[in-house]
Amino acid sequence: MQQGTFNPFTPEFGKVPAYFAGREQVLSDVLSAFEEQATNLCALFVGPRGCGKTALLTYLGNEASRLGWVVANVSATSGMLEDIVQRTEESASHLIATSSEKRLTGVNIAGLGGATWNPRGESEANWRTRMNGLLDRLGEAGVGLLITVDEVDVSLDEMSHLVSTYQHFVRENRKVALVMAGLPFHISSLLGGKNTPFLRRAQRFDLSSLAPYEVEEAFRLTVEEGGRLINEGALTEAVEAINGFPFMLQLLGYRAWRMHPDDAFLTVEDIRAGAQRAQRELEDRIFDVTYAELSKADRAFLAAMVQDEKVTSRADLMGRLGKPSGHISTYKKRLVQSGVIGETLNGDFYFALPGFREYIAGRE
Ligand SMILES: Nc1ncnc2c1ncn2[C@@H]1O[C@H](COP(=O)(O)OP(=O)(O)OP(=O)(O)O)[C@@H](O)[C@H]1O
Ligand SMILES: [Mg+2]
Repeated sequence: MQQGTFNPFTPEFGKVPAYFAGREQVLSDVLSAFEEQATNLCALFVGPRGCGKTALLTYLGNEASRLGWVVANVSATSGMLEDIVQRTEESASHLIATSSEKRLTGVNIAGLGGATWNPRGESEANWRTRMNGLLDRLGEAGVGLLITVDEVDVSLDEMSHLVSTYQHFVRENRKVALVMAGLPFHISSLLGGKNTPFLRRAQRFDLSSLAPYEVEEAFRLTVEEGGRLINEGALTEAVEAINGFPFMLQLLGYRAWRMHPDDAFLTVEDIRAGAQRAQRELEDRIFDVTYAELSKADRAFLAAMVQDEKVTSRADLMGRLGKPSGHISTYKKRLVQSGVIGETLNGDFYFALPGFREYIAGRE
């Protein structure tokens, strides 16, 4: 039997795609900072679910490592600060002696037992001291440290401790880069917190929807990467169904590919069938999570938009919800920041997540 071609699409969270659609700016800005061995790059990636934050962090981490940086990739969960120390030691093990010897003799049982940072602050100094020790040794080797933090969550105390300690690293002229990624409302709250003045100077990259030509190019290149081709008609159809959404690009491509994996061309029929399956998967994997994060008032706001096919005016919303303009403004802001809705120049609202309107309608 003929061996099927390999499917080059990557519809998994956090997977680095075969080709990044768009994102040139962020890639070139951050990569050149690594190449130039910049001392204090601080960048924020902001965008809704499935827009490619984790994929970018992973890719840039790999590239930094290739350029000689030591890289600590962590998520903003409890134990993050300890994780940064351990990931740094792990990534720098070829340069510096780690504390593993100490751990084996039981001096540092905390490290082994996974004991975490103490919120009362006693070990905050310790954390900074330990990091300084590591950074001193990296500095002697002329190597910089990149810390990436995914799923930024301001409710985590360790988050603000990381940021405030990072400011000290910068002041002490240590070569430490900090790149953080999160959903818009988490990043907004981070920027609204006590570290605001410092973070306002961070480079902020909004990972918005992809332009049609960006989707088109990446889709075609990915198909070719797998050793097949796609004609213009099928490509146009794919671009339309993907609607600028990176995760959809991968889901649709993956499903369409599997229709006839041994054919030389992906056809319009393959794309249509793939789009249908992809839409269902998108609902399971993105919409359910997004919906669960919405408040009751958010949901009522969206339900009141469903009857309009394209856009909803503020006046209609006020009427349907029986609420004043201030209420609309508050919830509009929340929903725009979560990437669920967008606002036109005329001040009308629309669903920004492709297919989410139908999803909400289906739940009503
Ligand atoms: N620019 C891009 N071009 C093509 N595919 C992409 C791009 N960015 C991300 N992807 C793909 O989209 C999917 C989602 O990416 P990723 O998991 O990084 O999103 P995310 O923003 O971290 O989502 P979440 O907020 O749910 O964690 C992955 O399958 C990834 O390969
Ligand atoms: Mg992610």
